[in-house]
This record gives sequence, C-alpha cells and structure tokens, in this order.
Amino acid sequence: MTRQGCELGMVGLGVMGRNLLLNIADHGYPVAGYDKDPDRVRALLEEAGPRPAGGATSVAEFAAMLRPPRAVMMLVPAGPAVDAVIRDLLPLLSPGDILIDGGNSFFRDTDLRAQTLAAHGIAFLGVGVSGGEHGARRGPSVMPGGPRQAYERVRPLFEAIAARVDGDPCVTYLGPGSAGHYVKMVHNGIEYGVMQLIAETYDLMRRGLGLSDDELHAAYDAWNRSEAASYLLEITADIFLRVDERTGRRLVDVILDAAKQKGTGMWTSQSAMELAQPVPTISAAVEMRSLSALDSERAAASRILRGPAPRIEAAREAFLPRLRSALYAAMLMTYAQGMALLGSASRAYGYGLDLEAIARIWRGGCIIRAALLERVRAAYRARPALPNLLVDPDLAEEIMARAADLRAVVCRAAEAAIPVPAFSATLAYLDGYRSAWLPANLIQAQRDYFGAHTYERVDTRGVFHTEWSREQ
Ligand code: 6PG
Repeated sequence: MTRQGCELGMVGLGVMGRNLLLNIADHGYPVAGYDKDPDRVRALLEEAGPRPAGGATSVAEFAAMLRPPRAVMMLVPAGPAVDAVIRDLLPLLSPGDILIDGGNSFFRDTDLRAQTLAAHGIAFLGVGVSGGEHGARRGPSVMPGGPRQAYERVRPLFEAIAARVDGDPCVTYLGPGSAGHYVKMVHNGIEYGVMQLIAETYDLMRRGLGLSDDELHAAYDAWNRSEAASYLLEITADIFLRVDERTGRRLVDVILDAAKQKGTGMWTSQSAMELAQPVPTISAAVEMRSLSALDSERAAASRILRGPAPRIEAAREAFLPRLRSALYAAMLMTYAQGMALLGSASRAYGYGLDLEAIARIWRGGCIIRAALLERVRAAYRARPALPNLLVDPDLAEEIMARAADLRAVVCRAAEAAIPVPAFSATLAYLDGYRSAWLPANLIQAQRDYFGAHTYERVDTRGVFHTEWSREQ
C-alpha cells in the first residue's frame, strides 16, 4: 500500500472515484483515495491489490500522502457536496496546489469556486469526465478547463488514463475558467437530445409498428452497424435482450416510464436561452423527461383525453429505413445545436474553444461517442469559423438528402398521435434555420402596437415606432 509521495489524491470513492483511481494506478501513478466511509476505503484497497494506491479516512492522513505541490481531484455529487469537500480540504492545502473537480458541476459554480481558491493561491480545474463507470475504469473522455499552467502539470496523467482513438487520447485543454464544465454540460445536453430521439424511434416502432423486443434489438443492432453507429445505439440494442430475473419478462418492459434527471440537460437549455442560441432538440428532451415524470397525471389523463390509436399506417419494410435515415439526420442536427451553443458560449465567456478539438475528444470514451463525430471534426477542420454545422457543404447535402425522411416520420407520427417532440423540434429547427424569411415581422409589429417597443424596416436603417391604435 502506498502511503506517501502520491502524484494525485482522489476525494470520493464512490464507483466513479474508485474506478478512476484504479485507472490512474494502472498507469503506474501512485494515487491516494480519501472517503469518510471506511468501507469504501477498504473496498478500494482490496480491489487495488498490488497497484500503487493508498487510502485514508481522514483529510489530514490523506493530505500527508500527497507529494507537494499537491494535486487533488474530487469526484463527488455536484452541488453542496463539492463545497463541503473544499471546506474540509482548504486548511490542508498550500499555495501552488491544484484542486480538480471531476464532477458534473454547474459552470457558474466552477467560476465562483475558482475565484475563491485563487485567493488562496490554489489553482482550480473544472474537468468534465464522461463514460460512466466503465469509462472511468477503462478510459473516459476528459474535458479539462481552468488555468493552463495547472493543467500542464496534470496533463501526462490525464493523457495516460483517457480513452484513445487511433492512438490519440480523448483529452485536451479546452480553455480557462469553467470551459471544461461548460463543454461537459453541452455534452450531456446532446446526450439528452439523442436519447430522446432514440426513445421516440422506440415508441414509433413499438406502439406504431408493433415490433417485439427481439425485433427492436435487431433494428437497433442493424442501425448501429450503419453510419448512425454510436454508443447510445449500441447499448439500446443490448437493452432489448436483457431478461428480468424476477419475472422472466424483458427488463425494459418492467421499468417505469418516468425518467429522472440531475440537471445538466436543463442547464444546457437554460444557458442556451440566456445566450439566445436555439437548442430545440435538447430542450424537447428535457421537457419530455419532465412530462414522463408526471406518470400518475398521464395515467388519469389517458382515460379522459381520447385520440387516434397509435398505429403507423405504413409497411414496416418501407418505414424502418426512413426512420433510420431521419434519426441520423436528427442526430447530426442535435450535435449541430450543441456545437453552435459552444461557439456562442466561447464568445460570451472568453473560453476560446476549438470545436474541432472537442469533436476529436468526443470520438472515444464518452456517452455521445458516435461515428458521425468524424464528419463533425472534418467540418470544423475545413472551416473553424463555421457558424453552424448545417451549412457545412458536406453535412448540408447529407441533411437535405434526408429531410424528406424526417418530414415523413414527423407526419406519420402526428397522424398516429405518437409524440415525437425531439423529431418535430429538429425538423422545425431545420426549416426555421433555412428560412430566409420568418414571420417575426408580425411579432415586431405586435410588440410595437401594445408596448411601443419599436421595429426596424427592410428598406431604411433606423428604429421606428407607429401609433397603431385608432382609439388614441
Ligand atoms: C457521462 C454521463 C454522466 C451521467 C449523466 C446522467 O457523460 O458519463 O453524462 O455524466 O450519467 O449526467 O445525467 P442525468 O441523471 O441527468 O440523466
């Protein structure tokens, strides 16, 4: 057991913290773990075996195990727990030490914590870590932000533990302040969007076309071997095969249809609203999680609000390829919304984000890894200042070629009364973004009518107001 000279300390030995620590130790870095719960420390040391890992249940003992200047990483639930850990650690840290928050913290909290810690001479890195338990153990995608010099000190360690694609580690310095946590938040927003799109295809195939769980497995498995290949499709295909030990039924059929959320999707949507950058697919996904959670209200409403039977009036053989094509287009447009938001945030918050690099580090390890990221990457490599992936010449062709499929899916779903808010929102985003004219002139007229909010004209520069009401 390693007792001193550790290169990194890990606070929080839940599954993520423990797995990441073991991953670090696997790469030969001596690492110390700290958790108040002695059972967790014991479990870590048992699993670590001969690896260079130590464990402590007191902060003082933990701090003594670290080689100064110290680097400490926290993997605790976002929110008050992070501040509680910082309070406990602060008296034992010294100027020049680095504190790393590897959780899904809200980016504004990260900025505040960085300021407080900077006053004590401690550099704070906000680092997004994606890939779940397995990713943490075998290679996550890592999204670091904060003071560059501090990152340089821990860079070799992060590069060693990150997932690799074609030998390239899925980690890169992203920018100052909360850049890392912002990018992770948008990663999760995209995750929400794609998960909702896949859930909508499930609804269309299950209720709409009557596919069995085996047929659903086969469909997703085939899709995952197409251009839409992605981790989320891979696990979806797997899910339909799992049998419930208690009932012998497929597990997915005994899981309650009410989704939980921890906040990152909602923050993405809120931040996008603040920056006036539309992310309608992501927002629809957040809204649908909220609607799903109203499960008893929905059950009651289902007995009052009658509608058409949820049956798609189309042959399976004809509809399924269109659905796959629409899903691919909608996935691309979800990434496009997330990337456009990252561009806006980069300008507003001075992150200096390199969107090509972000697409590169998302290709492996993380939840939204997908074959399409190679195309996203290529688009930003060719045109770093691209305002939106939709106008990349290659992707524009791709989306135009599939737009009729997307339209057909949304039409069939509407006729069958199957809710597809993520698909509908994506189609409206496409049609809105490619409209040289939108009916916002009427909105301007209305605003000016009732509130003298003024408007601009198409034929002259300046700001105008009209006395609209004849009664004045
Ligand atoms: C990841 C995941 C991870 C977490 C989600 C779940 O990248 O590894 O995104 O961070 O599982 O945040 O979020 P919800 O509980 O909000 O669905």
